[in-house]
Amino acid sequence: LLDLVPPPPGLDFEAVAPNNRDALVVPSGYSSGVIIRWGDPVMPGAPDFDFGNQTVAAQEKQFGYNNDFAALLPIAGALNEYLLVVSHEYTTEPAMFFGYDEDEPTEDQVRIAWAAHGLSVVKVQSRPSGGALVPVMSNLNRRITATSEFRLTGPAAGSPLVRTTADPTGTLVRGTLNNCAGGVTPWGTILSGEENFNQYFGNGDGVTAEPARTQLRRYGITGETSNRRWENFDPRFDVTRELNEPNRFGYIVEIDPWDPASIPLKHTAMGRFKHEGATIYVTGDGTVVSYMGDDERFDYIYKFVSSKKIMPGDGAASMRHNMTILDEGTLYVARFQGNSPATEIDGSGRLPADEKFDGSGEWLPLLRAEGAGATSFVEGFSAEEVAVFTRLAADKVGATKMDRPEDVEANPKTGKVYAALTNNTRRGTGGYPRADEANPRHTNKNGHVLELEDDHAGTTFAWNILLVCGDPATADSYFGGFDKSRVSPISCPDNVAFDPFGNLWIATDGNALGTNDGLFSVVLDGPRRGETKQFLTVPVGAETCGPIVTEERVIVCVQHPGESDNYTAETPASHWPDGGTSQPRPAVVAVWKS
Ligand code: FEO
Ligand code: CA
Ligand code: CA
Ligand code: CA
Repeated sequence: LLDLVPPPPGLDFEAVAPNNRDALVVPSGYSSGVIIRWGDPVMPGAPDFDFGNQTVAAQEKQFGYNNDFAALLPIAGALNEYLLVVSHEYTTEPAMFFGYDEDEPTEDQVRIAWAAHGLSVVKVQSRPSGGALVPVMSNLNRRITATSEFRLTGPAAGSPLVRTTADPTGTLVRGTLNNCAGGVTPWGTILSGEENFNQYFGNGDGVTAEPARTQLRRYGITGETSNRRWENFDPRFDVTRELNEPNRFGYIVEIDPWDPASIPLKHTAMGRFKHEGATIYVTGDGTVVSYMGDDERFDYIYKFVSSKKIMPGDGAASMRHNMTILDEGTLYVARFQGNSPATEIDGSGRLPADEKFDGSGEWLPLLRAEGAGATSFVEGFSAEEVAVFTRLAADKVGATKMDRPEDVEANPKTGKVYAALTNNTRRGTGGYPRADEANPRHTNKNGHVLELEDDHAGTTFAWNILLVCGDPATADSYFGGFDKSRVSPISCPDNVAFDPFGNLWIATDGNALGTNDGLFSVVLDGPRRGETKQFLTVPVGAETCGPIVTEERVIVCVQHPGESDNYTAETPASHWPDGGTSQPRPAVVAVWKS
């Protein structure tokens, strides 16, 4: 009977088979091309990339490393021209430099790494036919790095918790770090999540006084030297010398890509944690709701609900108003309640008797930020403390410990919210929390995807699990009730996106099934609900991120091609995208119908 039902609009492609090729593999009938790679010129005067002779001055004008989030913003009045905004999550120094010494990086290597972090804004043009895009020089092009100026806004701005020697006002931060996923706002700006910022700070174990020690440890700032030894060249990365510097990272940043001179913001009202990203949903009355995940085992899903309403129009006054919306409102954290008996949730991943992992949930308020001040809803925490030590505040109110929340995003067609839980191999092991109905599998290697029917501006929701990822041939996987003999295996969902037809697309990171990562479509409604098809695979060692799916093309960021545990420039495990004996380079690619 299913064969009589045509595939939903937008999904008429033949699935790509799982593979381990060192290539970008797309369905037959499709073509692909690199838009921009690490080291390609972004700013005027940028030299061509020269792997063995990279310089700080070159990197500051070139495309950064490890592209993650991507946004493609149409330029008004300029048909076939767009602004491409891309984040650069982290650097992999042993793969970036020949002869890299992890114990003693040079100052140039460290400064190149600072310049390879952050974001790029680059104008691109489409070709007369096909989906290819090429970068062009423009006065809108911009590099934002680990040393660019940012302004703190919201309840923690100016607080003693964020003041440092270099910034006694607690309002101006140098740089953004570990920018993972993000979102596009309806007013034309970009949101980007500062994720694993802990790794840049050294000497966490050197701080023994409380409560600082507990606060650092809850964010993973422990140990002696940092991996990259940045503290050797800037004392702000040594927490025994600048205790508050890490309190200035871990936020949602907002960038106005239309004004290259604008100072980007860090919105403290949206909390501080390992922000995967932030996405926006606007309710009928103009209230702005932002969904966010904290990517850590046993951490939480959050949302922010604005007090201000969106101001329509694209003039300067609207932009000024709208860029303050994420500073005033209420920050909530999610608590999930299953509806099946706890005895039926045994950690095996098998469905309970009602044949659904599902239930209800509530949003627990943590903080309300207002123009003049802010209110804490958490006993023992000031409003500033909730904004800066959000994880500790969320622990206190009893939020539900999830299996690494990544992207959380509302489907613009239906308003339903989808959350990727990428994996959690510790669930149900040792002294760690056991399975619950919202995180139903012990040693969850392959992750799962939640569907929420949220009262967006309100405090309650209903939920169910859409996908329990993994090998469809095993009993512990579930594909929305769809026939599992007819789906692509999927593992470690990370980024979610929606095409213009309202289909869900999922990019993966860390495929635990032994094949390369990729991009998948998922049908959400009708008799094919749960049908999951692989659209592309990325080269060996790479992660798929930043998906954008339009009718013209699919764009993905191919992050860290060739990555492995002992990844060096001397022994590259990938030669993508340039082939031959070339070094691998993270790159953004477009795919289109031939
Ligand atoms: Fe940077 Fe949570 O992925
Ligand atoms: Ca149930
Ligand atoms: Ca991610
Ligand atoms: Ca990830």
